[in-house]
Amino acid sequence: MKKILLSLIAICTLGVVRADEGMWLPFLIGKNIQEMQSKGFKLSAEDVYSANHSSLKDAIVQFGGGCTGELISPNGLLITNHHCGYGNIQDVSTVKDNYLKNGFWAKSYKEEIPAPGLTVKFLVSMEDVTQFVIPRKEFATLEEKEKAMKPIIEKIEKEATDGGKYTAQIRSFFNGNQYILCVYQIYTDIRLVATPPEALGKFGGDTDNWMWPRHTADFSMFRVYAGKDNQPAPYNPENVPYKPKHFLPVSVKGVKNADYTMVMGYPGRTNRYATSYELDVAINETNPAIVSLRDKKLSIMRKYMNQDEAVELQLSSKYAQIANYWKYFIGQTEQLKKQKVIALKQAEEKAYIQWAGSQNMNTNLMNQFAKANSDYKPYSKSVVYYSEAFYGSIVARLGALAAQLEATLSEKNVDNTKLAQQIEKLKQYRKMLMEEFNYNVEKEIFTAMTQMTFDDLPKDQLPDVYNNVIFPGFGKNSEGTYQKYADYVFKNSFLVDELKFENFCNHPTLRELQGDPAVIYSSSFVKNFESKIQPKYVAYNNAKTELANEYTAGLLKKNKTNLMYPDANSTMRITYGSVKSYQPQDAVYFDYKTNMDGLLAKYIPGDLEFDLPQDFLKLANARDFGKYADADGNLPINFISNNDITGGNSGSPVINANGELVGLAFDGNWEAMSGDIAFDKKFKRTICVDSRFVLWLIEKYGKADNLIKEMDIRK
Ligand code: ARG
Repeated sequence: MKKILLSLIAICTLGVVRADEGMWLPFLIGKNIQEMQSKGFKLSAEDVYSANHSSLKDAIVQFGGGCTGELISPNGLLITNHHCGYGNIQDVSTVKDNYLKNGFWAKSYKEEIPAPGLTVKFLVSMEDVTQFVIPRKEFATLEEKEKAMKPIIEKIEKEATDGGKYTAQIRSFFNGNQYILCVYQIYTDIRLVATPPEALGKFGGDTDNWMWPRHTADFSMFRVYAGKDNQPAPYNPENVPYKPKHFLPVSVKGVKNADYTMVMGYPGRTNRYATSYELDVAINETNPAIVSLRDKKLSIMRKYMNQDEAVELQLSSKYAQIANYWKYFIGQTEQLKKQKVIALKQAEEKAYIQWAGSQNMNTNLMNQFAKANSDYKPYSKSVVYYSEAFYGSIVARLGALAAQLEATLSEKNVDNTKLAQQIEKLKQYRKMLMEEFNYNVEKEIFTAMTQMTFDDLPKDQLPDVYNNVIFPGFGKNSEGTYQKYADYVFKNSFLVDELKFENFCNHPTLRELQGDPAVIYSSSFVKNFESKIQPKYVAYNNAKTELANEYTAGLLKKNKTNLMYPDANSTMRITYGSVKSYQPQDAVYFDYKTNMDGLLAKYIPGDLEFDLPQDFLKLANARDFGKYADADGNLPINFISNNDITGGNSGSPVINANGELVGLAFDGNWEAMSGDIAFDKKFKRTICVDSRFVLWLIEKYGKADNLIKEMDIRK
């Protein structure tokens, strides 16, 4: 307890902070405000986050669970990235009305399209509840400690929902050294308002992804609807546009190098306190495994997507998601090596142990980290393969869920209520997965994943389906073994065939279940994972959680004169810095902005990633940039700043010194792909789409004056 108290004091002590690095908590921003103002920020801490009146935080939402969005009009108009709205745009598109391909611009509320399942989450309040949550006495195991904390956490959360009006979550920060209660209000009637065509919204595709210089119109627009009382309400045509407590004015003044910028949003996960031992596992085992499995899946999907526009539309969002983190892990591995992050961490660890010795603290901590990682390392690839290869196949996923019926159906007196519930769950899950099911694609993925699993994993970690079913029936790992096996599974499983599935659900029998080839396959994988792999994974995670808790507590104590920020955990954060050019390598200089000429120079007619719509080309070449032009007469497209963001921040507002929107954060840069693990001041940049490009597209390309009119545009 004493250690924890000390850590809290450390968190609350104002000291020297490193600029640009840091994802700060909005409700504690008072500790940073002096520095922010010294860098040019003109507003107060209360203007950023206030428990009593409207503030910047009220304009910012978590969008759809994995992104950020911001309100930019008094009528609930919301802007986020194109790649954040992507799945929702895909959902409402058809080959005939292909908004993903052709874009969409609503000219009135009536034309806006409901986006089923999409929600946005407003932050109501944040409060430090550490003193109530962390038990005062010591526990022998993490499990016991968590068990003691659970009822307390649940009680505080329940009270904070105010009878169900809000959603409340207590989250752990600094690896269990601080606990914060976050209260949210969730809106569920969200409608698509506008999107540029994919050719612009995803211009540059995977080639340009995670790279600067960039020329992408990565934005899309939605509207939040509410009941007549402005409170959340399920979709209803009678609902009205939500009146936000605050919305961001949009600046057309633009940015110059060194201008103050801040980003507020929902960064998902960073791992800045990871040890060198963990990086060894990532670099040598898990990252390469993820990349090679995704390589394979992507090439199979791409082949069929290129052949058929309907398949292209059906799989586009899934493809983009897989591709995004495929390239991420390539980049992360490359930069971890290039920036010598292991050596950097080792030096930090050595300094820590020396300090721990001087404090009579645990000097064995790093050896404990080393042991936890070396115990886990031989199994780490199997964990990746389970989620990426086995769960990468839709039929395998369905098989795993169906296999759960076995226990229920095996009972002497079958519990029919339970059975009906499980069947219903299976039906719903199947319905959802089948939206992204393409027979040929899935069969080839199943084939490839089954083969790669056998080829790449230690033989004693494999499920017995290989030796019991696949090899006896289809040849011993020879040419065609897996293809023939996949043919057989896809032809005979009731999970693949609509009619057979219906029949099974109407009359489920143990015999049919246990004889189903997909269920046999999945059940073997699940049992193997649960008995041989999962225990290692759980042991590793528990050990890591405890060690990280101790290490972070130590670091907080060691650095108590400095402000420290907690790792990202999908809670709202603020990062501040400035627009900033950089040098990616010796003798190479990257300017802070790109413009229309640069975009047009990348144009490749007919290309999958660099093609441009004819009507856009005509407009761009007419150069009617009006009030959106930069001082040099060109249209600004994207810019970079040294703000500290990660996945989840996508769509976040880039805010200038006056609290106005100057752009949307949408990516990170290649040279800093190790940034989630170690922030490198020299290289780390946030890639943003310039507000002026966005407004120009809305006005001139989308001809949606109606949207421009409802914004507060600042000169
Ligand atoms: N790398 C971006 C992010 O994670 C996503 C960019 C989407 N574009 C793409 N070509 N996949 O926020």
